[in-house]
Amino acid sequence: MSSQKEKTSPFMAKAIEAALSAKSITSPNPWVGALLEHQGQIINVSSTKKYGAAHAEAQTLQGKHLPEGTLYTTLEPCVAFEGKRTEPCTQIIIKSGIKKVVIGIEDPDPRVKGRGIIQLREAGIEVQIGDGADEITRLLRPYIKHRQTGLPYVIAKFAASIDGKIATKTGASQWITGEKARDTAHHQRAWVDGILIGSGTAISDDPSLTARPKNLSPEQFTQPLRIVLDGSGKLPVNSKILQPTGTIIATSPKSEKNWQDSLTEQGAQIIICEPSQNGSGINLEQLLQVLGSRSILSLWVEGGSQILGSFFSQNLIDELWAFIAPIIIGGDGLSAISTTGTSTLAEVPHLREIVIEKLEQDFLIRGFTGNWAP
Ligand SMILES: NC(=O)c1ccc[n+]([C@@H]2O[C@H](COP(=O)([O-])OP(=O)(O)OC[C@H]3O[C@@H](n4cnc5c(N)ncnc54)[C@H](OP(=O)(O)O)[C@@H]3O)[C@@H](O)[C@H]2O)c1
Repeated sequence: MSSQKEKTSPFMAKAIEAALSAKSITSPNPWVGALLEHQGQIINVSSTKKYGAAHAEAQTLQGKHLPEGTLYTTLEPCVAFEGKRTEPCTQIIIKSGIKKVVIGIEDPDPRVKGRGIIQLREAGIEVQIGDGADEITRLLRPYIKHRQTGLPYVIAKFAASIDGKIATKTGASQWITGEKARDTAHHQRAWVDGILIGSGTAISDDPSLTARPKNLSPEQFTQPLRIVLDGSGKLPVNSKILQPTGTIIATSPKSEKNWQDSLTEQGAQIIICEPSQNGSGINLEQLLQVLGSRSILSLWVEGGSQILGSFFSQNLIDELWAFIAPIIIGGDGLSAISTTGTSTLAEVPHLREIVIEKLEQDFLIRGFTGNWAP
């Protein structure tokens, strides 16, 4: 990926805006924006639609014949490969007669990876690469990680008091943050492919774990796959998270077959994973591989404390979203991340490229862990 600091042209900025609007519906395809410019005027802007539908470049060029125009696209146009459902964008671009294409970043998908650029150049099209590269790379992190490693991009999320507690000593956690922070979290749920919690949270809170963002209608996003980690088989069959059906229950050979069957009858999908190496719960690396192979590009880990502790101590988190409320829970309240902790401040991991937002009375602090970088 480009490591240079690249500027974003105003036309590419509009294409990025379009890509952003598509990010909740295109997965496992990348969320791409494209724009057709002619004599300084914007002729058309579009973004990728649902998986299997027309790509951004195809929609932008449809019905237009402007050879002197320039096509801006956030990602390298796709090429033909086995099993592909749509006409390759390179062919559509070449047929359109356009003579110049500006591309944000090369497609990291090994089936494309530079071949689209070569095909356009071989057809006599002038190709420029790198416009808006930093912004686009940031926007496409889950897609890039998945195509490079086969694993989901993992985002940890918690809502904590100012003293870092996610629940009181009796386990109460609803609600620590206010409405705006909770709606922001629902928008993020609407963007990711999967949401994961531990059996402790599933049992104590009995959440439905669906995305319910304000101001987004159901056709503007896809409900994420819900995943519960329950190695010993404790989740009650009447848990809200089992409806609507399709929830994944990741368990270990320790759980009883009768319990597994009763959840399957409720429409859950059971995945049997190895126990984790320290014997507590299931093997997270194995689970991430399974989720990656099922086209989960982005995974939002909502806790609780033990689950976040396991993910963090195994360096499996790529990004953190910490919602911090100006309240003090104190005492024996539950720490956000239950790990054994560090002895010295020199060992403490630091977040990178931090963004801080004020959400009414609460704060959102988010940043990258550096466990994976594009
Ligand atoms: N404020 C917030 O943002 C927030 C968010 C979520 C939860 N919460 C609160 O957190 C509390 C629940 O947290 P918790 O720490 O008790 O439970 P938890 O982290 O939700 O779940 C822990 C359980 O998950 C299972 N598990 C499976 N694989 C695991 C692995 N690799 N590592 C660790 N655990 C694994 C374990 O049971 P097995 O050994 O049986 O597999 C373990 O007992 C509740 O009070 C809830 O309200 C707050």
